[in-house]
Amino acid sequence: MRSKSKIFAVLALLAALLPAAGAFADEVNIYSSRKEALIKPLLDRFTEQTGIAVNLVTGKDGALLQRLKSEGMNSPADLLITADAGNLYRAKAAGVTQPFVSEALTASIPETYRDPEGHWVGLTLRARPILYAKDRVDQKTLSTYEALADPAFKGRICIRSSDNIYNQSLVASLIAADGLEATETWAKGLVANLARPPKGGDRDQIKAAAAGECDLAVANTYYLAGMLKSQDPAERAAAEAVAVFWPNQDGRGTHVNISGAAVTASAKHKEAAVALVEFLATPEAQAWYAEANGEYPVGEGVALSPTLAGWGPFKADDLNLGRLGELNAEAVRLMDRAGWR
Ligand SMILES: [Fe+2]
Repeated sequence: MRSKSKIFAVLALLAALLPAAGAFADEVNIYSSRKEALIKPLLDRFTEQTGIAVNLVTGKDGALLQRLKSEGMNSPADLLITADAGNLYRAKAAGVTQPFVSEALTASIPETYRDPEGHWVGLTLRARPILYAKDRVDQKTLSTYEALADPAFKGRICIRSSDNIYNQSLVASLIAADGLEATETWAKGLVANLARPPKGGDRDQIKAAAAGECDLAVANTYYLAGMLKSQDPAERAAAEAVAVFWPNQDGRGTHVNISGAAVTASAKHKEAAVALVEFLATPEAQAWYAEANGEYPVGEGVALSPTLAGWGPFKADDLNLGRLGELNAEAVRLMDRAGWR
């Protein structure tokens, strides 16, 4: 009898504690600019392993940030998942994120790919090298981003417009490495070397190089990976006509960026949210996540897909990616002055 009443007492105590426990342990709400198919299977795996439900809202970067701002502390979101350190920086600057500490993440994600104040971490790595038309370019003539302003490349380069954050981040990395003045001179030289006014996305630059409109394109490699496994034979053929050149290997390394996650300022399930980010940084999740997106893992020692492995190893610029956000406004103004449309 006594033990039975003890059990009841324990049950009553547990029942009293449950709402509090449930408030941080039963769900994570995500706002994500990544396509559902490219992240959902991982979230399902997390739920299977932990019993923590994950609710996913997807949208465009600008719209999600606007939504976080207008919802303020009433936002149901616990995590923001987005591409480009510039977007993570914008969210932090808008005050919709908060710092979080995780020993597991500090151990698994290089410092370069984490916000110095702990508001966000990178979860996949994307590289933005030079792609060249195999039949027209001798890769020995290629060296650095800086060299793209060389008159030898007049009329031979394709790159998308300056309103795209990938190019803004690339220019920010050049400002960090070479300074404002040298980078402005460089941007003017690059614009003078363009084969056509900037138009389209990264895939369009690759297609233009394959079609002979230009000899060199600057693009993120996951677009090339995506085109190589495209259902469309024309897209596959275009991708096969170009090769990857890793610039700046004798110096700071190739420009890279991340997709990553930030804990929101309004997070009601912070512990569960951090647990999910830790899960996404495990080698098993990293391998799937990088592969599904055609990106690189952020951590070391994760196997690459045959396509990515085939492009060979490369040295990545070790600039802390938080700098890309800090220098974004400067980069945008500079590109404008240089006539980069
Ligand atoms: Fe992209």
